[in-house]
Amino acid sequence: MAENLPSHIPVMRTEILNSFASVLADSDLAEIRYFDGTFGRGGHLKAILEADSRVTAVAFDQDPEAIIFGEKTYSEWVKNGRLKLFNLNFSDFEIERFGKFDLMLLDLGVSSPQLDQGHRGFSFYHDGPLDMRMNNESGATAADIVNNYSEDELIRIFKEYGEIFKSFRVVRAIVHDRKAKPFTTTRELAGLIERVDGWHKKGFHPATQYFMALRLEVNQELQAIENAFEKLVLGLRLKGRIAVLTFHSLEDRIIKNKMRSLEQLGFPVKRKVIVPSREEALQNPRARSAKLRVFEKGTKPEKRPGYFKDDEGDEDAEPTEPPNS
Ligand SMILES: C[S@@+](CC[C@H](N)C(=O)[O-])C[C@H]1O[C@@H](n2cnc3c(N)ncnc32)[C@H](O)[C@@H]1O
Repeated sequence: MAENLPSHIPVMRTEILNSFASVLADSDLAEIRYFDGTFGRGGHLKAILEADSRVTAVAFDQDPEAIIFGEKTYSEWVKNGRLKLFNLNFSDFEIERFGKFDLMLLDLGVSSPQLDQGHRGFSFYHDGPLDMRMNNESGATAADIVNNYSEDELIRIFKEYGEIFKSFRVVRAIVHDRKAKPFTTTRELAGLIERVDGWHKKGFHPATQYFMALRLEVNQELQAIENAFEKLVLGLRLKGRIAVLTFHSLEDRIIKNKMRSLEQLGFPVKRKVIVPSREEALQNPRARSAKLRVFEKGTKPEKRPGYFKDDEGDEDAEPTEPPNS
């Protein structure tokens, strides 16, 4: 039942609200339009709608469970038309259908309820079917990939998405074992990785990067960002802002490069990437690897006083610790 699902703590909520504050303050519009491409449990969306009564929202999530949760939990906003929810991938965004927006947010990756529920198959700590689909109504599962990809294909995705440069022994063991019995559960796969790779780093399960790589492949997560980012920027009104929260260095690299390559449309609000406070990273382990980048549509102000005042030093902040999911 949706109401019994584990909760999700919105990451860098204050920093995101701060990034949107000037758009809200400078706007004299009667309606400010917010697009949330990764609704999840609606934590960020709630904070933004509560920050300004003029804000109306359109929210997508490719996970049907998230949409059911949103319809129940925010039923008042759904009823009065302040919130419109769609079970869609944000790469399906179309200006012609949804119009233009003043604020947009992508909070990439999986939500805590997805990770913590064994039946979704994302976690090596909770046994469940080897699934990992955010949209669990269609597409190939992690089991389909593990049981059918060739040795070379498996090595490629573990290298490209998991940054595992020596996956040969694990992949060979997978290919050997699946002949006798296909993999069906998360524990079967995690057990094989524990057995073959062993524990190298305290507190860091040896399956972490393998599971991350499979998740990215199953959900085509990097492709969704590649395909959607420019479309979303085009869907911003002038002086509108899009904030993107990433949890994986490959995602952050794509966003950083996209923001640079779209300089004819706008500019990054800060030169440096924004990272969570020490306090937040201590309180919420899932925030530790978070990186926030914000892009504004329009011409960069030549000299807006104080614009970059807290923004000196290297372009990128120190790398943060890996996630411990
Ligand atoms: C980190 S959670 C978002 C949490 C949300 N900001 C909150 O405060 O509750 C990411 C959510 O985005 C969804 N998601 C990830 N990639 C998506 C995509 N390409 N299109 C639509 N939804 C996506 C996931 O299903 C998940 O529910």
